[in-house]
Amino acid sequence: MLIIKAQDYNDMSRKAARFIAAQVQLKPNSVLGLATGSTPLGTYRELIRFHRQEELSFCDVRTVNLDEYYGLPSTHPQSYCHYMQEHLFNHIDITPGNTHIPDGLADDPNAYGREYDDLIVCMGGIDVQLLGIGSKGHIAFNEPSQVFSTQTRLVDLNETTIEDNARFFESEEEVPRQAISMGMKSIMAAKRILILASGNGKAEAVKAMVEGPVDPMVPASILQLHPDVILIADATALSLLAQ
Ligand code: F6R
Repeated sequence: MLIIKAQDYNDMSRKAARFIAAQVQLKPNSVLGLATGSTPLGTYRELIRFHRQEELSFCDVRTVNLDEYYGLPSTHPQSYCHYMQEHLFNHIDITPGNTHIPDGLADDPNAYGREYDDLIVCMGGIDVQLLGIGSKGHIAFNEPSQVFSTQTRLVDLNETTIEDNARFFESEEEVPRQAISMGMKSIMAAKRILILASGNGKAEAVKAMVEGPVDPMVPASILQLHPDVILIADATALSLLAQ
């Protein structure tokens, strides 16, 4: 795992956006795996700036998102579909039909998950997967568990994730208890993985991901088995690493 130290959140975001922009310039029809949450917001802002000021075009780019809350329609203000429109897609020249986000209203979410994994294979796989990390080490919504879950499927969110994500909702009760999450197989099949971490709250998870054993109780630790992972993190997120 290559670890790139950023000065702060903005520096992390600039470095991540430069990396993604270079990928798109080198391969205009790249398949980008995208994340939501607080961490990639600055990266998306920078990509929008590159589009506006440096003529970076996304018109041939294809995207697949990691996850969506189960039970929320795509129009719900807290849905990840809405998030992606608001924070990226509405501001760049991406072709709407090229963007894919799990359907939070799928009737049979596990069958849907299998189709989503097949879709990623049909697209030729993910060129660069952007990830954030949960405070307990989840990636996408693959929560700490006894085994690594491979398929895209319906998952139960754990207490910590519900508490962490309550900040986006009026109250904790409103946070959906389930989500459709990409599984480890599609994530680990990505050609490159770019994982971002910022702030004190991620320091323990980053340490466990980088220095701990590969353990499904720290889902991000599986990334130790991937040949091309870049972690861009600020000093506080890296503060517990041995060196
Ligand atoms: C979001 C996702 C999650 C987040 C993680 C960190 O699509 O898959 O794994 O990356 O929960 O969230 P933030 O960035 O809000 O701290």
